[in-house]
Amino acid sequence: MNSDKNRVTPKVWLITGCSTGFGRALAEAVLKQGDYLLATARKPEQLRALTKHYPETAKAVRLDVTVSQDIQAAVDTAIATFGRIDVLVNNAGYGLIGALEEVNDTDIRRQFETNFFGALRLIRTVLPLMRQQGSGHIVNMSSTAGLVGFGGSSIYCGAKFALEGTSEALAKEVKSFGIKVTLIEPGAFRTDFNGRSLAAAEQSIDAYVPVSGASLQWFKEMDGKQLGNPRSAAQAIIQAVESPHPPMRLALGTDAMSLIQEKLEWVKTDLDAWQQVTVSTDY
Ligand SMILES: NC(=O)c1ccc[n+]([C@@H]2O[C@H](COP(=O)([O-])OP(=O)(O)OC[C@H]3O[C@@H](n4cnc5c(N)ncnc54)[C@H](OP(=O)(O)O)[C@@H]3O)[C@@H](O)[C@H]2O)c1
Repeated sequence: MNSDKNRVTPKVWLITGCSTGFGRALAEAVLKQGDYLLATARKPEQLRALTKHYPETAKAVRLDVTVSQDIQAAVDTAIATFGRIDVLVNNAGYGLIGALEEVNDTDIRRQFETNFFGALRLIRTVLPLMRQQGSGHIVNMSSTAGLVGFGGSSIYCGAKFALEGTSEALAKEVKSFGIKVTLIEPGAFRTDFNGRSLAAAEQSIDAYVPVSGASLQWFKEMDGKQLGNPRSAAQAIIQAVESPHPPMRLALGTDAMSLIQEKLEWVKTDLDAWQQVTVSTDY
């Protein structure tokens, strides 16, 4: 079953949002290398080709990350079918374009429900099992926008920054239980993200046209032309999961690389320039 002779046992993965994009590419890659997968999607009929091709190692279930019952049922099915969960990948998510003043409460809550609270629900459901196993890896699909704020995406960035902070702290909470946590920070990748997975604020304020309007335009124009290949991303994620020393953060794409480096320099520039004030506030 296992094509790589160096791998001792196949892993059991649970991946959210396997219908298209990163989730789909990762689902296909882990199955191809002989691992087991609980593939999940809001519409599980979209996963038929996967389960047909890998009837012994893939099982598909319905999972909307905003529905708690779906989450518990999916985790129960993974345990009943495969006996354990080695890797949880919180991939499901969508983009929200709109300046903070343009988006409404419903837009904001919906974005956090899916991109942040959805992942937390999955993690909290899986952690008791991983603690019992004494092992596990939680992979959270963040974004370059989890480290860099982009004008016109304040709420998307807010939800991804929240995921980053929670993941970094979680890694410290669960390290002694043998559980690892990794954040994936892709740049622009050729998935359905810029198309059907991009929501825009209903209200548009003229003053923000050069910011959020331009941003929406950019996403539309880039659709299908993004630099990143999701299949290569899947291989990179697998490499991180298989590593004896997985990274806390894995940036993906040359755009991610330069944007994150710019951010780090910005943080350092402010820290250095204001050092005297910073250290002047102790008793
Ligand atoms: N592509 C990029 O440039 C990029 C860059 C950085 C980060 N990301 C992140 O990558 C992740 C995956 O996106 P993608 O680029 O692969 O786009 P995609 O091809 O549009 O895939 C998005 C996936 O998320 C699922 N999803 C959305 N809401 C859900 C919910 N409530 N419950 C369960 N599944 C839900 C979608 O399911 P349906 O088919 O049912 O809609 C779909 O499977 C997202 O977290 C996104 O923020 C993407």
